[in-house]
Amino acid sequence: MAFSFISATTVLPLFFMTALLMVSHFATPVAARDSLKSGQWLKSGESLEKAGYAFTMMQNCTIAVSDSNKKIIWWATAEHIDIGCSLKLQHDGNLVMYNIRGALWSSRTYRKTWKIYQLILRADHNVVINDDENNTIWETDTS
Ligand SMILES: *[C@@H]1O[C@H](CO)[C@@H](O)[C@H](O)[C@H]1NC(C)=O
Ligand SMILES: *[C@@H]1O[C@H](CO)[C@@H](O)[C@H](O)[C@H]1NC(C)=O
Repeated sequence: MAFSFISATTVLPLFFMTALLMVSHFATPVAARDSLKSGQWLKSGESLEKAGYAFTMMQNCTIAVSDSNKKIIWWATAEHIDIGCSLKLQHDGNLVMYNIRGALWSSRTYRKTWKIYQLILRADHNVVINDDENNTIWETDTS
């Protein structure tokens, strides 16, 4: 039958193309980050995410922790309203918000020795900066 011939030759390739697209889709997941290592940036508009809550570098230079209902439960901002800020966790332990005008906010956790630090979104909703021995040097206290 002509009908079954057409359906077999058109539907089967379509099926395999769909399967291939799904495989390539799952092979390159864009999983949200839930931590930031020293040397890394969180750019304007970007978020770290964990189990329904987020730590966001907002486009208006406010750093916010928001819960699963997008309600802001903690925030920090520059002295004056500004735009285009990125956040960097530095090797000296300081978390600093910069834009073209310079540093506008910091966690004030500067250390003299350079180490690997990590900003971590903990499961209990507390956002912390830990040093290389996992000692907490800063926290949002939002658990
Ligand atoms: C930045 O935007 C957020 C979300 O709209 C708002 O809650 C916050 O107050 C704003 N921050 C400033 C400094 O305007
Ligand atoms: C370090 O602390 C983080 C956040 O509290 C925790 O998730 C992680 O398991 C700890 N790592 C080690 C090696 O203890």
